[in-house]
Amino acid sequence: MARHLITSAIPYINGIKHLGNLVGSQLPADLFARYCRARGHEVLFLCATDEHGTPAELAAAKAGKPVAEYCAEMHGVQARIAEGFRLSFDHFGRSSSPQNHRLTQHFAKRLHEEGLIREVSETQMYSPTDGRFLPDRYIEGTCPNCGFESARGDQCDNCTKQLDPVDLINPRSVISGATDLEMRETKHLYLCQSKMKDELEAWIDSKTDWPILTTSIAKKWLNDGDGLQDRGITRDLDWGIPVRRGDEDWPGMEGKVFYVWFDAPIEYIACAQEWVDAGKGADWQRWWRTDKGADDVRYTQFMGKDNVPFHTLSFPATILGSAEPWKLVDYIKSFNYLNYDGGQFSTSRGRGVFMDQALEILPADYWRWWLLSHAPESSDSEFTWENFQASVNKDLADVLGNFVSRVTKFCRSKFGEAVPEGGAHGPAEEALLAALATRIRAYEGHMEAMEVRKSAAELRAIWVLGNEYLQEAAPWSTFKTDPEQAAMQVRLALNLIRLYAVLSAPFIPDAAASMLAALRTPERGWPGDVATALEALKPGHGFDVPEVLFSKITDEAREDWQVRFAGVRG
Ligand code: MF3
Ligand code: ZN
Repeated sequence: MARHLITSAIPYINGIKHLGNLVGSQLPADLFARYCRARGHEVLFLCATDEHGTPAELAAAKAGKPVAEYCAEMHGVQARIAEGFRLSFDHFGRSSSPQNHRLTQHFAKRLHEEGLIREVSETQMYSPTDGRFLPDRYIEGTCPNCGFESARGDQCDNCTKQLDPVDLINPRSVISGATDLEMRETKHLYLCQSKMKDELEAWIDSKTDWPILTTSIAKKWLNDGDGLQDRGITRDLDWGIPVRRGDEDWPGMEGKVFYVWFDAPIEYIACAQEWVDAGKGADWQRWWRTDKGADDVRYTQFMGKDNVPFHTLSFPATILGSAEPWKLVDYIKSFNYLNYDGGQFSTSRGRGVFMDQALEILPADYWRWWLLSHAPESSDSEFTWENFQASVNKDLADVLGNFVSRVTKFCRSKFGEAVPEGGAHGPAEEALLAALATRIRAYEGHMEAMEVRKSAAELRAIWVLGNEYLQEAAPWSTFKTDPEQAAMQVRLALNLIRLYAVLSAPFIPDAAASMLAALRTPERGWPGDVATALEALKPGHGFDVPEVLFSKITDEAREDWQVRFAGVRG
């Protein structure tokens, strides 16, 4: 059995993520992790919150809380929501953990020792009133392009022009409103990525099986005019990991922290240490150190396309540059964007459905099914309420839910609440088994390849086979003339429910669990031979008619939600 290390891009701490964020990393990662576990592989599935940087500081200030307290609280919120969506992380860590502090400082030291760090002097806005350097987003002023009075130092939100803080007219500090800003010299550390260009390029070129979305973005950044430039890995901020070389001070870097994009991916490793330190695992090195057994781990990362440059170039530069035997990623599955009803999801304007709101209106499985079956793989995709309603009502309620309810209710009314005995398979059953075998193998192929939409389509087709069989076999008519034949048909159909639960669990874990509970059977592993799998429930095995698995979405509910999520979150 293989060993799979799986990570999802770690979500920023500031605020609750929307469904577009969810489908671009955490949810497909969960699908894959669940599938790998179901196939009997050993899995370590990690995620965390990304807690440093200006957005975290600003959000904490807005909430009127010390940033450490704000982050601790928001981590709890995100962890609960992740549980609500049944994201099966083995550990949900924090990039602000002591483990990540140590490891980030360790990598900085190694990179320094390898001659890959240089110091650069820059001038930056300083606020004497605030007693600190101001990052671009901490400066506001009038846009030189459109006259908007609250343009930020990095961009004008009104005309979208990219700005430099020195371009602003009447610049002021966002923190204090101070206007006595001045340019001061400050030193920063740069990681010499340009020295690693050839090594990185060779590594990327060796990944011939990667999705085109991933490699095309990586190659664009490698070879563009402003290709692989050295990048600043420190910032003049309070909140973050202090700049040190291992446990030594770094002369001239006092009061500075590492740039959030330097420490965030290192959290993938630190998270495995947190997992061990939390008593959930015994050994993190066999997942992360190729000299300690991680060479036979298959490492897969999931992320939205905006994250690809950091995972194909920056983080590998950190790993390779360290010259230590850390595990490099084997496969990067990246996603396009999910749009919302004719526009974009917008966190600032509260446009679209956010993870907490989604769970308030419907159970996780409804969202999981729609999002995964419409994952933005080959292009951006769009959430519309009409489409969501149609998918839920057709796929989940009519096809799967209805099958489960018809079969169990019919059996109860004619044979009682136990698997009936008698009868033998005929040509219709043989044909069904053959069709199932083909489709299940196809489903496995797509799941292994992380082709999310294709997997969902195949699973739906597997559900449809059951409905078609039931329609054709029509045990309700057979029963009148040949009860033995009807018993066989119903027995097969009950076994199909069990098989569907096992196959569907990575997509809709709660419904799958309800199906298995109704059949009073534990999950008995992935189906090998279909004929055997469909004989798991023997005659006489008791079952219960389950509650309705999926309710339909009414037009009123849909219209109501359409209005409610159109924008401006309270
Ligand atoms: N927080 C980033 C985002 O949401 C992702 C960080 S991924 C990591 O876009 F690699 F840095 F961890
Ligand atoms: Zn402007």
